[in-house]
Amino acid sequence: MRLAILGSGFISRFYADSLVAQRRKDIIVSVYSRQEANAKKFAADYNVPHYTTSIKECVEHKEVDAVIVGLSNDMHLEAVLASAAARKHVLCTKPLGRTASEALQMLQAVEKANVVGGYLEDLCYTPKFLKSLAAVKNGSIGEVIWTKSRETHPGPHSDWFWDKEKSGGGAMIDLGCHCVEISRNFIGKNIRPEAVMCWADTRVHPIDAEDNAIGLVRYENGAIGQFEVSWTFRGGMDLRDEVMGTEGTIWANNFLRTGFEMFTTGKGEQYVAEKAETNAGWLFPVGDEVHELGYSHMFTDMFDAIDKKNEPAETFYDGYIVNAILDAAYKSAASKQWEPVQITDWRGKAIAISSKKITSYDDQYYLIKEEVLPSGEKKFIIKHKITGSIERR
Ligand SMILES: NC(=O)c1ccc[n+]([C@@H]2O[C@H](COP(=O)([O-])OP(=O)(O)OC[C@H]3O[C@@H](n4cnc5c(N)ncnc54)[C@H](O)[C@@H]3O)[C@@H](O)[C@H]2O)c1
Repeated sequence: MRLAILGSGFISRFYADSLVAQRRKDIIVSVYSRQEANAKKFAADYNVPHYTTSIKECVEHKEVDAVIVGLSNDMHLEAVLASAAARKHVLCTKPLGRTASEALQMLQAVEKANVVGGYLEDLCYTPKFLKSLAAVKNGSIGEVIWTKSRETHPGPHSDWFWDKEKSGGGAMIDLGCHCVEISRNFIGKNIRPEAVMCWADTRVHPIDAEDNAIGLVRYENGAIGQFEVSWTFRGGMDLRDEVMGTEGTIWANNFLRTGFEMFTTGKGEQYVAEKAETNAGWLFPVGDEVHELGYSHMFTDMFDAIDKKNEPAETFYDGYIVNAILDAAYKSAASKQWEPVQITDWRGKAIAISSKKITSYDDQYYLIKEEVLPSGEKKFIIKHKITGSIERR
């Protein structure tokens, strides 16, 4: 794949680290940045033959097959529309839009241009996530009842994130977009998200947007996707997911305290990991961040999809649904009510929503629970099928 990158900041460097890593054959042929000095430095660091301060020139470069958008949130729409107009495949970082309305325009633009619109949701490609999702899909944990996804850190690294107009919100749009899509994958993309109840507040930073939020997304089958986000968490970046099903449970810790611990007095000033607050004392480094954060699997899936002319696992449609859920979350944080998720273009395949599975104990009773006590005795909690009385055997 021959690529253009729009942006030369934090995420563009992570993407480039993943793209030029090891023996990858994909190449970056052009990079755009607002400031020439940044474009030039990025080009030198990653061996990119062409750099420019014009988005149009970058995406129209004749050797470019696909464009990667790594710009601030307020620039995604413009960048995607320019890429689609140049009839280039376009892979956009998260969140797709600041609102569902922006995301829908991007979705329509790529579909009209007949190019792939890939949603670069890296946390749906981490090795732990991919294995967890495979377990959920093969039925290992039964029906998913409740999922929980958390991303918290001490706050982002660039000015524009803190400006509500430019970013589209605070911690919720920035981090909640990951959590919502993680839960949506576990619950099932064909299951419609119906409504959101959300608390959000600005507790610490002098900004207009929320720096902490918790939300519940209710799906049509009754499943709940819970998200927890913060820009005021101290101690690094906490990325954890939980899935609770009728036959099992998954707990995945993706970043902090994953079994790699190191102590240093602070000599050497080494880089520890994204959002690590210190490089002295007991530290929790991450072995291969690019891989553990999902970037390698993500680009492999995106490029395979382009080559095979099919869809990647995360598309602009997914980005649009995430934005629609977050729009409802912002409404709920203001109204303090459950707010419906407004989706103008629902494409989930109709599937049978399973009714409650009830196990019989015998002809007369349902089984609620069985347990072996410390004495070795087996206890059954049962419910009479007609009278409803609850008893033990
Ligand atoms: N895990 C992830 O997937 C992940 C992580 C971090 C950031 N991101 C996303 O990547 C995007 C960029 O974030 P970042 O962390 O790289 O930020 P950054 O500030 O480090 O880089 C932003 C880039 O956008 C450019 N830019 C900003 N305003 C512009 C404007 N008005 N016109 C033209 N260019 C402009 C900057 O010059 C810079 O090149 C955001 O959408 C963010 O949400 C994703």
